[in-house]
Amino acid sequence: MNEEQEEVIVKKKVLITRRPPKHVLKMLEDKFDVTVWDSEEEQIPEKFLLENIKNKDGILCLLTENINEDVINNNKRLKVISNLAVGYNNIDITAANKRDIMVTNTPGILTETTADLTFGLMLATSRRLIEASEVVRQGKWKTWSPMFLTGMDVHGATLGIIGLGEIGAAVARRAKGFNMNLLYYNRSKKPELERSLGIKYTEKDQLLKESDYVCILTPLSKETKNLISKRELGLMKSTSILINTSRGGIVNEADLREAILNEDIWGAGLDVFDQEPIPQESPILDLPNVVTLPHIGSASIKTRVNMWEMAAQNLIKALSGNIPPNLVK
Ligand code: DGY
Repeated sequence: MNEEQEEVIVKKKVLITRRPPKHVLKMLEDKFDVTVWDSEEEQIPEKFLLENIKNKDGILCLLTENINEDVINNNKRLKVISNLAVGYNNIDITAANKRDIMVTNTPGILTETTADLTFGLMLATSRRLIEASEVVRQGKWKTWSPMFLTGMDVHGATLGIIGLGEIGAAVARRAKGFNMNLLYYNRSKKPELERSLGIKYTEKDQLLKESDYVCILTPLSKETKNLISKRELGLMKSTSILINTSRGGIVNEADLREAILNEDIWGAGLDVFDQEPIPQESPILDLPNVVTLPHIGSASIKTRVNMWEMAAQNLIKALSGNIPPNLVK
C-alpha cells in the first residue's frame, strides 16, 4: 500500500454545516474527508444534517443547528461537536456526555465585539437611532423641534447586568466611560470585578427595580428560560430599557410586548429571539421603542473569522486524540 492510499484510509470524516472561509476549509480538507453544506446564508436542512452526520467522526456546526439526541444518536462514531459560538444551548450536552462525545465552543475571542454591539444597541434604543435614520430617509424631517425624537440618556444612568461573565464585564467597562452606576446579578459573586469596576452585586428583583437599563448577558438554560417574564418586567421602571444580546427564550416575548404596550417599561433592544429568524408576523416587530437586530452580536469580520479558526482548531485537536482547548464540560 503506498502512502497516498494509506492517507485516504485513515482520513477522518467531518461535516461542516455552513461554508467556511477558504483558508479554514483548506485547513480542514488537508486533514479530513470533509462534507460541507456549501451555503453562506441558507441553513443546513434537517434531512441533510441527519443523513450526512451518520458516518462522521466530527461535526463543526452553528448555533442554528439543533444537535439533539436524535441527531447525536444517528451516528455511532461521533467524537466531537465543535460549535461556532460561545453559547451551546443548541446542543444536547447530556446526550453527548452519555456517548463521551466532546463538545467545544468559541469563548473569549468574541467578548469585546459582542460588548461593542450590546453597548451600541443600548445607545440605538435609548436615542432612537434607527427610527431617526428612517425619518430622514423617508423625507419626514420637517424642521428641528425641541421634543422631536427625544429619548433617554445613557450617561449617568444605572445599568443592571444580569450575568456578569466575560461579556458582562466588557459591557461594564464600556459603561464606566459613560459614567454609569453599575449593578449586577449573577449565580456567583465576583468580588474582583466589584473592586476593579466598582460594580455592585444586587439581588435580581432589586436590580430590576433600580436599573435604568437591564442588560441580559446570561446563557440560556433550564434555569434562565423565561427569567424575564411579566413579574420581572413589572418590577422595572416605566422609564427603563431592556437589552438582550444573549439568547431568545430568556425574555418572555409575549410578556415583553404587553409591558411595552402598557408602558411598564420604556423600550427594548433585542438581538436575539425565541425563534430565529423572527417570523415577520411577530407582534414584537410592531412595537414602539423596540430595536430589533438579526443576532449580530459577534458579527465583525475579524471576530467571525477568528471564531471559524478556533472552531476548526477545536475539531482538529479533538480528532487527533487531544483534549481540545475549548472543551465544554
Ligand atoms: C454566541 O457565540 O453564542 C453568539 O450568540 C454568536 O456569536
